[in-house]
Amino acid sequence: MNTLIVGHGGREAALGTRMAASSSLFAFMGHANPTISSLVEGTGGAVLIGDVCDGASIARFAVDHAIDVAMVSADDPLAAGVVDALSAAGVAAVGPTRAGAQIEWDKHFSRTVVTTIAPGANPRWAHASTVEEARAAVERVGAGGVDVVVKPVGLAGGKGVKVVGPHLADNHEATRYACEVIGSGRHGGAVIVEERIRAPEFTIQAMTDGRHTVFPPATFDYPYRYDDDRGPGTGGMGSCTLPGGLFPFLDAATYDQACGIVADAIGYLTADGRSFTGCMNAGFFVTGDGLRVIEFNARFGDPEALNIMSLFDGDWTEVMEAMVSGTLHDGQVPLSRDASVVVYLVSPEYAVAPGQAHEFTVDDERIAGAGASVLFSAAERVGPGRFRTVGTSRAVAVVARAPSLGPARDAAYRAIGVGIGGDLQWRTDLARF
Ligand code: GLY
Repeated sequence: MNTLIVGHGGREAALGTRMAASSSLFAFMGHANPTISSLVEGTGGAVLIGDVCDGASIARFAVDHAIDVAMVSADDPLAAGVVDALSAAGVAAVGPTRAGAQIEWDKHFSRTVVTTIAPGANPRWAHASTVEEARAAVERVGAGGVDVVVKPVGLAGGKGVKVVGPHLADNHEATRYACEVIGSGRHGGAVIVEERIRAPEFTIQAMTDGRHTVFPPATFDYPYRYDDDRGPGTGGMGSCTLPGGLFPFLDAATYDQACGIVADAIGYLTADGRSFTGCMNAGFFVTGDGLRVIEFNARFGDPEALNIMSLFDGDWTEVMEAMVSGTLHDGQVPLSRDASVVVYLVSPEYAVAPGQAHEFTVDDERIAGAGASVLFSAAERVGPGRFRTVGTSRAVAVVARAPSLGPARDAAYRAIGVGIGGDLQWRTDLARF
């Protein structure tokens, strides 16, 4: 069987690792991710470097290599309709169509879906596409001295959301930021203004064929750049799961309620004629007053996918086939009850400044000896055991799994200490409850 991964991040490296266990892996990437490149080489596949949003080129590559099933797992390609392009070329693809992915690339649409399926799970919110609407939205949502959050409606690479407190001085500055987004015409040229909620967060990486959905352990991620949740938001500096799939702040009834909201969101999309397969990554706040939906992503989270793939003890290619044929069932997705920890190592400038390429070293054997494994992201190979960052992003992830959180965390940090050298940075305070 031939499978295709589209994308080049740590998430695609984790998915590709599972796909390569039972198929010949082919890859269409923006840069030569070292993990994916060596999986392709080891299974007799082929790589094409190109624009991961170029559906026509990806479909041609897939047809040329007789791909049986493809996996499209990043936000921009999904929003660009890469699944639609593959389907039109007769290639089965896991991932929502552009219409299905609207739940992620249009936050206004997403809030209206929640209003329909679980109105009590929306925070106070308003949409604004003009400067006047932005002023009115901040005034309405911020009434009574409530701090607000401003979210561009469109995709912004995880860097568009700004919160009064950590990122914006007050609601006046929030209004200015909202007007700036609207005036720029970028990221959808409109915003959602929401009340700021201070409560613990978790995510669910729900795996679906559009009708049946499998719910794995809840995941906890660390979006802020520096220890103690300081600094700007990022794509995620690391993440963890606990044995049993819950957290000290999350009980089984609340988790089940969240799963119900996710199932209803997928049901809504399907009933509306929007194809949705793959993963819905749903984020929630647990407030004293019930659950609130933070957002829906139309694909696995990165790094959360690395946790789920590290716990997955089955045949991922079989799961992909079940997703595209509408035959997914729980038994196909065996997940260990272990804890899992992911720590991302990033370029020093990540999320704070423009940067340059940095070289670093990775010793797979020492990392394995420490009880962990490594997955590359924005990095390329420059020689045996030597790598270079690509852009200013997350370069490489260390992943560990163990029967409880402490040993998994210790293994991940031990692996970094013995196995990775060079100019990278990482958070040192992850996976502690
Ligand atoms: N970890 C957040 C995301 O994948 O968008």
